[in-house]
Amino acid sequence: MDEKKTMLSGIKPSGDLTLGSYLGPLHHWPKMIEEYDCYYFMADLHAITVRQNPADLRRRTLEQLAQYIACGLDPEKCTLFIQSHVHQHAELGWVLNCYAMFGELSRMTQFKDKSARNADNINGGLFTYPCLMAADILLYQPDFIPVGDDQRQHVELARNIVQRFNGVYGDVFKMPEPYIPKVGARIMSLTNPAAKMSKSDNGDTGRVTLMDDPNVIMKQFKRAITDSDTERCVRYDPENKPGVANLMTIYSSATGRSFAEIEREFDGLGYGKFKPAVGEAVVEMLRPIQEEARRIMADKAYLEGVYRAGAEKASRTAEKTLRKVYKKVGFVAR
Ligand code: TYM
Repeated sequence: MDEKKTMLSGIKPSGDLTLGSYLGPLHHWPKMIEEYDCYYFMADLHAITVRQNPADLRRRTLEQLAQYIACGLDPEKCTLFIQSHVHQHAELGWVLNCYAMFGELSRMTQFKDKSARNADNINGGLFTYPCLMAADILLYQPDFIPVGDDQRQHVELARNIVQRFNGVYGDVFKMPEPYIPKVGARIMSLTNPAAKMSKSDNGDTGRVTLMDDPNVIMKQFKRAITDSDTERCVRYDPENKPGVANLMTIYSSATGRSFAEIEREFDGLGYGKFKPAVGEAVVEMLRPIQEEARRIMADKAYLEGVYRAGAEKASRTAEKTLRKVYKKVGFVAR
C-alpha cells in the first residue's frame, strides 16, 4: 500500500506568474515531489471570477503548465492538470457551497479586497470562490497545502468545512494543513512594499514576472523602493524598513543566504550596490527556468500529453471522493 502523504496546490492563470507566485509556493513544490504524492494544477475556474480575455486565459494556462515543468515539476513524478478538465471540482464546489455560511464567506479578506477593486463586477463566483477552493483541496484528501500567506484564510475555511461536514456525515474528508514557507510567504511590490506583488494588477511597475527579460528585471530592481531613512544600510527590519526587508527576502530566497549573511555581505555598501545585486541573483535564478519554459512551450503535443494524462489521473482520485460525498448527502447513485 502507498504510504506517501499527499500535497496539493494551484495557481490561477489570471496573469503571468510573478516572483511572488514563484518564491511563495512554486519554488517549494518540486522539492516535495519525491516525498509526497503531489497534485498541482492551473486554477482556470477560479481565474474567471475576474473578467478575462479568453485568448489570453488559454495561452496563460498552457504557459503556466510549461513553467511548472520548467521549475522542476516532472510530470512523471507528480500530477499536473488543468482544473476545468476535472469536472468533479465544479460538482463538489456546488455541494460545499451548501456547507459554507454567508457570514464566514463575507469575512474573507480577499473577497473584500477584490470587490473593492472590481466594483463593477462583484459576482457570485467571487463570493463563493473559497468553496470551490475547498473542493479543489478536499477531493484529493491531501495532508498539506503549500501556499503563500494570503491563502491561509481560505485553507482555514476549508478546514471549517471539513469539521462541519464530517460532523454530520462521519469521516469523509481528511483535515488539510496549510504549508507556508518561513521566508518568501509574502513578497511585496517593489514600488509599494505595503502591497503584495500581484500577477493580476496590470501595469504594476513593482512586479517581476517569471519570464521577464533580464534587462527588465534589472531595471525593476534598480528602481525598487528602499527606505527614506538616513542610515541607508542593509538591515532586516520589516517594520521600519519594509522595502529593504522585501529585497532581502527575495535575495535570501534566490541565493539561500540568511539575513545575517546578507547584512554582512553589504555592510557599508549601501543600497546602490544592494539593489543591482538582488536583480542579478533573480536573473540567474530565473535564467534556466526561462530557457526550459520556452523549449517546452514550443512543444504543444508534449504539453497536451501532460495535461491529458494529468486530468485522467486527477479525475480518478477525485471521483472516489465525489461518489462518497454524493452518497452521504443522499443523491441516488448514477
Ligand atoms: P493565486 O493564484 O492568487 O496565487 C498562487 C499562489 O501564489 C501565492 N502568492 C504569493 N506568495 C508570496 N508572495 C506573493 N506576493 C504572492 N502572490 C501569490 C499564493 O499564496 C498562492 O499560494 N485561490 C488560490 C489558487 C487555488 C488554490 C486552490 C491554492 C485555487 N484552488 C487549492 C491551493 C489549493 C489563488 O488564488 O492563488
